[in-house]
Amino acid sequence: MGPIGVFDSGYGGLTVLKEIVRELPQYSYLYLGDNARAPYGSRSFETVYQYTLQCVEWFFSQGCPLVILACNTASAKALRNIQQKDLPRIAPEKRVLGVIRPTAEVIGQYTHTNKVGIVGTSGTVQSQSYPLEIAKSYPKIQVYQEACPMWVPLIENNEYNNPGADYFVQHHIQHLLEQDKEIDTLLLACTHYPLLMEKLKQFTPKGITIVSQGEIVAKSLADYLHRHPEMAANCLQDPGIRFYTTDSTKDFDSKAAIFWGSNVQSIHAAF
Ligand code: DGL
Repeated sequence: MGPIGVFDSGYGGLTVLKEIVRELPQYSYLYLGDNARAPYGSRSFETVYQYTLQCVEWFFSQGCPLVILACNTASAKALRNIQQKDLPRIAPEKRVLGVIRPTAEVIGQYTHTNKVGIVGTSGTVQSQSYPLEIAKSYPKIQVYQEACPMWVPLIENNEYNNPGADYFVQHHIQHLLEQDKEIDTLLLACTHYPLLMEKLKQFTPKGITIVSQGEIVAKSLADYLHRHPEMAANCLQDPGIRFYTTDSTKDFDSKAAIFWGSNVQSIHAAF
């Protein structure tokens, strides 16, 4: 038995972990932010895959039976390879899950016009993972995408609440919505973006529903553990969270507190 691993390139996954802990408080969790190499959003497929695989192997070395990639970029660029190529070789009894499929599976519940706008990192948008996954569950939904490469740096540098952020938020929302006047759902396909919620609400017309992933992923994990009692039995039920970062713990603790909402004390993860 071991803790459930939750991974992100940096801080964004904390917005997902928060909802997971709310939904499943009985388990023990390990969070890893690969802050030393973030952001992942503009890196190549091969680089994101290699970095993510190293982090997944680190979780396994810590005894995690199950790892959630709480990062859309890693889910888009690394998950399939890890599940199909690496897991059978390195840890056939362990599981790695992402955030894209669970989100795609429920997005139809939010839209009435069947027109969904997606904002994400360049990596997530270019991978076409969302249009492909949504088409499997909802073939009638039309998906419109917009890459927002400045949003993660604005958030990571604590500039997201400042007036300087307005331009970048408004610019991308406008650009996305111009593609089709009937878009009624805006999916935040990056785990960092919930921090921009106030600005997003300010620049998104009232009738459009803004969807963030934390709760969706948490509910989907609860459902997964319910359907896989053999995996649930491997997940340690000893409430608690340990936070790890590949970069400075001092920096992590001060910035993570913003995403987490209270103080965090991290440990340095050395590979
Ligand atoms: N939070 C990550 C995601 O959900 C992206 C952050 C990054 O660019 O590293 O896509």
